[in-house]
Amino acid sequence: MKTLFLKAHNRHDIERAGEILRQGGLVAIPTETVYGLAANALNGAAVKSIYAAKGRPSDNPLIVHVSRFSQIAPLVKEVPPAAQKLAEAFWPGPLTIILEKSDLIPPETSGGLDTVALRLPAHPAARAVIEAAGVPLAAPSANPSGRPSPTSFAHVRADLTGKVEALLDGGDCQVGVESTVITLAEGVPRVLRPGGVTLSQLREVLGEVELDPAVLHRLGEGMRAASPGMKYKHYAPKARVALVDASPESYARYVNEKKGGWALCFEEDLPLLQVPALSLGSRYDGAEQARRLFSALLELDEKGAQTAYAHSPMGVGVGLAVYNRLLRAAGFDVIRPKGPLVVGLTGLSGAGKSMIGAALKAGGCSVIDCDALTRSARVYDESCIKELQKAFGADIAPGGVLDRKELARRAFAGPQGRAKLGEITFPRILSQVRRVMEAAEGAGVKIIVLDAPTLFEAGLDSACDRILTVSAPEDVRLARVMERDHITEEQAQQRFSAQRDEGFYKARADYEIDNRPGAPWEKALGAVLQELKGEAAKRL
Ligand code: TXA
Ligand code: MG
Repeated sequence: MKTLFLKAHNRHDIERAGEILRQGGLVAIPTETVYGLAANALNGAAVKSIYAAKGRPSDNPLIVHVSRFSQIAPLVKEVPPAAQKLAEAFWPGPLTIILEKSDLIPPETSGGLDTVALRLPAHPAARAVIEAAGVPLAAPSANPSGRPSPTSFAHVRADLTGKVEALLDGGDCQVGVESTVITLAEGVPRVLRPGGVTLSQLREVLGEVELDPAVLHRLGEGMRAASPGMKYKHYAPKARVALVDASPESYARYVNEKKGGWALCFEEDLPLLQVPALSLGSRYDGAEQARRLFSALLELDEKGAQTAYAHSPMGVGVGLAVYNRLLRAAGFDVIRPKGPLVVGLTGLSGAGKSMIGAALKAGGCSVIDCDALTRSARVYDESCIKELQKAFGADIAPGGVLDRKELARRAFAGPQGRAKLGEITFPRILSQVRRVMEAAEGAGVKIIVLDAPTLFEAGLDSACDRILTVSAPEDVRLARVMERDHITEEQAQQRFSAQRDEGFYKARADYEIDNRPGAPWEKALGAVLQELKGEAAKRL
């Protein structure tokens, strides 16, 4: 078959794509998530040819794409208020809503189900093509079944040239993973596939939203998949992928020992790795990971990788979608290096870390007070004091005895002083913390908690398998710090102004405990502890 190459910014090309689709042909189109392979959703024969082009099992239903909200009414039995709310909040955008279908939707499109998946994409070219076609478009991701989804035109061209009528070039996809799929067709709204719209965004709009167990767990033998797409091995490159759930340090140790494999890793891992590596961006930036994931998986093939060790992402926010895709690419093969689970405990001053630390200790964890270690004589030894004198003046340690107040006054006068102090002390703090951790490990401790206000600044996060942050509103924290440290509001304010904002910690946490007065922190922490114990047990 001769395949037409069309350009998304060309009006005439959009019209041409619309015409081909109206006549029952297939066109690969860009969307903000991934490229889709589109056909007229109301034409059973046209839809059938999608399955053939993708090599996709025909019991796997397709998403129907519309360009305006008003177009969904004829396609469904009814539009419930929850669908209205979701559409208002997230359409156009990377959200797919499952509703009971009307008779207009042929069984080829719905995979024989009595429901239909609907999406109003944000990509202007996608909407323009739907308008030009004048019909809703069924469009699965434009990859051969089982393979990573295409996020650039080059991917689509490589896979589909000669197999479909036309390919529409719209550049790179902004989100990079497929839309979030939520069903409103059975009781409590349930996410069947995580994607560009996060679980917490959905909960903000709908209240209760469940996560389908198949998102994170292999379906048991004979279990029915709510979303048929979840049954299949998916997103897999040719290389064997294994997911390694570990801190950057122990991930790198594991991968370096293996030799021969590739690391599919994060920016923070790169300096620690001695094997060829592809980075998905920062460990703490789920959106960036999502954007890069599929092209990285495809790149592994180009490089001829046989085995790839993927560093398990934090499964929060958009990162949940990244984790879900990697789990499937790995066929649920998750490696957990042996040893204690290391949990970083952090948050802003006055959030109440110490109280949470104490509760974790009572719950059986070994808690290391990194702040106390920071002040210890083991950190401020002779060589350290010499370096400090060089940086801040000999008189900060008259007669070799450190004047802590004077050091603090000079170091905390500005960002440069603070950075300099960190440069000198952080490596020493790190080695002290490591010493205490090793002792704890030797004593058979299963969960080590690093209670550290400067977890990230000191680089201690590199040793953490999980990160827990404690939060409270600023006025609450201010009052707590004033009372605890006997300082004025002005002094407390000044201290706060040198700190990062809450968003910094939230974006870097697997777990967050809300510790404002009256918040049910004990219950929340109990649930976290339960989960941590489960994780730790898998590492024995
Ligand atoms: O971002 C996206 O959603 C992309 C772009 C092209 O829009 N499309 C996409 O389609 O990812 P596809 O076919 O690759 O994935 C659709 C997923 C499958 O897991 C399928 O099983 C599920 O949605 N699905 C579709 N209709 C369903 C239904 N009626 N009930 C349950 N799951 C459904
Ligand atoms: Mg797909």
